[in-house]
Amino acid sequence: MYQNMSGLAAQSNLSVIDLRSDTVTQPSPAMRAFMMDAEVGDDVYGDDTTINALEAKTAALLGKEAGLFLPSSTMSNLAAMMAHTRRGEEIIVGRGYHIFKYEAGGSSVLGGAFPYPLEVALDGGLEPNDIDAAIKPDDPHFPMSRVLSLENTHTGQAVSLDRINACLDVADTHGLTKHLDGARFFNAITKLGISPTDLASRFDSINICLSKGLGAPVGAVLVGSTSTIAAARRWRKMLGGGMRQAGLIAAAGIYALDNNVRRLQDDHDRAATLANELTALNKFKVTYQANQTNMVYIEPAAKDIEPLRQHLGQRGINMGGGSPVRIVMHLDIDDDGLTRIIDGFKSYYG
Ligand SMILES: Cc1ncc(COP(=O)(O)O)c(C=O)c1O
Repeated sequence: MYQNMSGLAAQSNLSVIDLRSDTVTQPSPAMRAFMMDAEVGDDVYGDDTTINALEAKTAALLGKEAGLFLPSSTMSNLAAMMAHTRRGEEIIVGRGYHIFKYEAGGSSVLGGAFPYPLEVALDGGLEPNDIDAAIKPDDPHFPMSRVLSLENTHTGQAVSLDRINACLDVADTHGLTKHLDGARFFNAITKLGISPTDLASRFDSINICLSKGLGAPVGAVLVGSTSTIAAARRWRKMLGGGMRQAGLIAAAGIYALDNNVRRLQDDHDRAATLANELTALNKFKVTYQANQTNMVYIEPAAKDIEPLRQHLGQRGINMGGGSPVRIVMHLDIDDDGLTRIIDGFKSYYG
């Protein structure tokens, strides 16, 4: 899934259009200037006013008591899981969700929690009945079911509030703690046309990533109750994530929340246009569901993958690997970039 820059696109004289992920964006000149001006202090002493401001801002936006700045969403999710569970307790999670699949098993290796994966439905959500069936009775044979961990967006799909609420209803019935991996939370609410608190209100903790669609170079914020965040802060320290004058990078998060949320619709619109254009080529399968945000999935014939990658690379376009191939729109792809991408595909198949 994770593929290095092919070098092909880098060799082209054109500015590189990187389709692999929304994590590839460069901090804009305005974001860099804002970072340079940040007031900083030693955050382990609580002295970094920029970090304090980012944490408070994110918590307020999502209607939670407190926030915690972390270096990555992986650490944010892990600190949340460690705050919510004790050894031998169980986290119910989607099989394809990042926490289960792509975080190196951290919550079980480091947290001692037991993940119980459920199949993810076609819309990116979980089935309430599956959650209900997965929750264990209090019996010494079983781990103690403790957390339900959802993800929105998942593979770029915005899971509807109805689906989320149906899952949370089951969790509430059994007294589970509810976590949301909202690495792309703002893509989700933009697509769903709802407010941050509409999605956040019923969760005990939410991870927000700053370095994906929001375009900051690094960082995540975990929000939740004062006690949850205090526990996560202790785990962050143990995980090596207690940073010092990190307001320099937290400033990018403040800039991103102020400037880059409202433009996410542009990414979604470009993904929709791209999906339509690629579908119209009629050369390979294109997957772009109605609840999709900024990602398009394509399945070129195996014989075409490498030549197509070369062809695009010569035009300064870096297409990732995997099957299907994921194409992601982000703030470093404007309308001209989109035209170049469409032309690149058309000229290969033309
Ligand atoms: C849904 C989701 N959660 C968490 C992460 C982890 O983010 P990070 O790379 O900041 O650790 C990712 C990264 O792609 C993600 O897609």
